[in-house]
Amino acid sequence: MPNLASVKYGNFGKLLVFKLGGDAELPPPTVLDRTIPRQPELMASAEEVQLGKEGYHLNCAVCHGALVKSSGVIKDLRMMQPETHKIYKEIVLGGVYAEIGMASFADLLDETDIEHIRAYIVSRANEDREAAATVEE
Ligand code: HEC
Repeated sequence: MPNLASVKYGNFGKLLVFKLGGDAELPPPTVLDRTIPRQPELMASAEEVQLGKEGYHLNCAVCHGALVKSSGVIKDLRMMQPETHKIYKEIVLGGVYAEIGMASFADLLDETDIEHIRAYIVSRANEDREAAATVEE
């Protein structure tokens, strides 16, 4: 979904008020940095990545996007920073982000399931990092 404005510019709440005869100009929107960060080392087999792919699409894709490509509104998990990878379990099972809309999945998934999902996220991120590197050459 590279052409979506929400992917290119983000989706931030904004209120525009118009005035007759007004001459204020809207500053151009800032283009977001969509560079996928270097991923943590992947310690998973192809089978585990495949299980993660299934788990991701059953449980996460509805909000975070099919193939781990967010539409720009909810966080793109390919962009997870190293600090976020460190607290991934606390987020997905512990529910530490429940107040911002990311509930705990502890009633549906266990630690092994979510590690498979993380392996799939990392492998998708690496695929897209490689594709981007090839385009820049
Ligand atoms: C009902 C919607 C919804 C579903 C389903 C969902 N999430 Fe989330 N998730 C969110 C929201 C909302 C946030 C907070 C987004 C923000 O800060 O912009 C979030 C944030 C996260 C974060 C933190 C990302 C970061 O970079 O800070 C992780 C990790 C995460 N989700 C993993 C998952 C995983 C794994 C699944 C599937 C097991 C999942 N989510 C399913 C809505 C969802």
